[in-house]
Amino acid sequence: MPVSASRPLCAALAGLAVLPVLAGCGITASSGDEGPAIQVYSARTYGAEKAYERFTQETGVRVEFLNGSDAELRERLEAEGADSPADVYLTVDAANLSLAAEQDLLQPVRSTELEQAVPASLRDPQDRWYGLAERARVIIYDEDQVTPDQLSTYAALSDPAWKGGLCMRTSTSPYTQSLVASLVAHGGEAGAREVIDGWMANDPQILANDTEIIRTVDAGGCTVGITNHYYVAREEAKDPDLGVGVFFPDQAGNGTHVNISGAGVTRSADDVPRATQFLEWLATTGQSQFVDGNFEYPVNRSVEPVEALVEMGEFRRDELNVGELRRHNATAVQILTDAGYR
Ligand SMILES: [Fe+2]
Repeated sequence: MPVSASRPLCAALAGLAVLPVLAGCGITASSGDEGPAIQVYSARTYGAEKAYERFTQETGVRVEFLNGSDAELRERLEAEGADSPADVYLTVDAANLSLAAEQDLLQPVRSTELEQAVPASLRDPQDRWYGLAERARVIIYDEDQVTPDQLSTYAALSDPAWKGGLCMRTSTSPYTQSLVASLVAHGGEAGAREVIDGWMANDPQILANDTEIIRTVDAGGCTVGITNHYYVAREEAKDPDLGVGVFFPDQAGNGTHVNISGAGVTRSADDVPRATQFLEWLATTGQSQFVDGNFEYPVNRSVEPVEALVEMGEFRRDELNVGELRRHNATAVQILTDAGYR
């Protein structure tokens, strides 16, 4: 059913087949209800509310959110087509942004400010999406059983020395798939298969989420694991005695695998200048507020990360364009399936 973008977002969405996410409409808006507003479809649920409020205070532009899963929001954008009230699609994992771009749900936005603020490897070569926060996929280790000099690369976790000691994330997680996609990009399909088969030969515990991996390693149930860095920072903030160390893999090779939270301006946006201004603001003035609440790295290298990340130390990042991860996703999933990695 066609909807008018000029109607308020909630009313417009109420006219569509309602997904569970819309119970009670699900829309949250920054302060006030006067003045111009942009509509953001967001699958990034980490708290950046302060950043959005500040954006409204500084620019007078309100930000209205519809939260949902990546797939739900892409489906909605597709169904709504040119009449979608959305101006911005905001999400985690570059593969989700690449997929939205492939489905022609995003439009190219040229912006000198974004080009300068966001490194080339963390934005779409065709300018349809931009990374706004960066996360590293790190090796974590039990400080009671392992010293960092025993660690080197993701591939080296296939060494039989780690048999029975590995904690890994499920194959359905985009984090696992994107890491394996990066191994395909660098080592080819055969190279990636060898790594995954090697991990599987070590009988890994495959756990539902990164926090569970950290807690299992802390309790000595695994000696090493692979998680996003910010989950460790979160757990450390709760428990300063957490006995889990962070190691940045592949420093002598391709660099540590990184991914992004990011956003693009939708194809249907009816306020492209304000939507672009929102992205520019998040990558510059609002960068700290956007990334700090979730202990993510600023994509903007002129902005300092929070203290907890400074303490984790400097590291060399994989400079593969994160958009490439989507290209290798299907191969990655096939490799995981074939290896019996569930
Ligand atoms: Fe996460």
